Amino acid sequence: MSSKPIYVTEPAMPPLEEFIPYLQQIWSTKILTNGGPFHQQLEAALCAHLKVNHICLFANATIALVTALQALRITGEVITTPYSFVATAHSLLWNGIKPVFVDICPDTLNINPDKIESAITPHTTAIVPVHCYGHPCDVESIQRIADIYNLKVIYDAAHAFGVTIPSGSVLNHGDLSVLSFHATKVFNTFEGGAIVCPDLKIKQRIDNLKNFGIVSQVKVVAPGINGKMSEINAAFGMLQLKGIAAALSRRKAIDLAYREQLAHTLGIRCLEHTGEQEANYSYFPILVGPDYPLSRDELFEKLASAGINGRRYFYPLITDFPMYRSLPSAAPHNLPVAIRAANEVLCLPIYPDLAREELQEIIHIINDPS
Ligand SMILES: Cc1ncc(COP(=O)(O)O)c(C=O)c1O
Repeated sequence: MSSKPIYVTEPAMPPLEEFIPYLQQIWSTKILTNGGPFHQQLEAALCAHLKVNHICLFANATIALVTALQALRITGEVITTPYSFVATAHSLLWNGIKPVFVDICPDTLNINPDKIESAITPHTTAIVPVHCYGHPCDVESIQRIADIYNLKVIYDAAHAFGVTIPSGSVLNHGDLSVLSFHATKVFNTFEGGAIVCPDLKIKQRIDNLKNFGIVSQVKVVAPGINGKMSEINAAFGMLQLKGIAAALSRRKAIDLAYREQLAHTLGIRCLEHTGEQEANYSYFPILVGPDYPLSRDELFEKLASAGINGRRYFYPLITDFPMYRSLPSAAPHNLPVAIRAANEVLCLPIYPDLAREELQEIIHIINDPS
């Protein structure tokens, strides 16, 4: 039994004393929010780091998703995945949009492009896919369909910080991509999020929308919201960015150790990295199949009794929640792959400070659960 509980993730924190100069700066300028100097610095630093054109920082990814849909004036029906965190679909309901769920691919657990076309109706205006666990969606196929049917594509890229595919950052695909900087994410600002956008015109619209629709002291052009990131969060982001390479390399080593040592475990499948040039190792999902001696829930409990708290992301499916359950597209026969994944998945602990002995203990329990 581990001496302290182990969680599925733990934020990488820089030494506290390194944050003090940032706080002193905020105290001296007394600029706390509203697009202050740290906010501007972080937008520029993230554009350079992620190799994207423009970024609008937000208080969290959920408000960013809601705003992205507003910015592109999405209405009617939107095609999305049931296999995600519930905020993906909630952002649609907050905009009065009807979610239409389609099934996922068994290999990536991302939306299956082959299932999208048959879900399109005259009311469909957009697709909201999710790069689940930071594994890239089939962006080419999704764009091809969007182009044929004149649909917008907004990626929920909450998990996809820093992920690249052969053509460059995965965040440059679709019309907009939304990142989360929540405490549980590879890059965190305590709470935070961002919209990645291709041009200045849409950035300006989003920046207005996240600031109540205000464009000047006397002019409000849209019913905007307050989605701004504060200076303290932005300053923390600047500091976090310095440590991101080291954090990713430790995550990569853990990912590799799991893969190597679970490769021959009967009934356990590690979700492959498919399509990434650079992965971010944000999650480590395994699928517990019928050949494994325990069910997924039994393994979950077995680990928990040893103080190791995995998470059943994403179980239940979004379509199991009461506000979605009665939609025709939520019917189980429409989503067999997602249902199976939700019943088999277990995300194992992965974070930079996970000790080698802790990692070995997790692997040992999975390999020898008796
Ligand atoms: C796929 C996905 N979308 C959206 C969100 C919402 O992000 P936030 O917590 O920053 O609002 C999260 C997670 O936290 C997520 O995992």
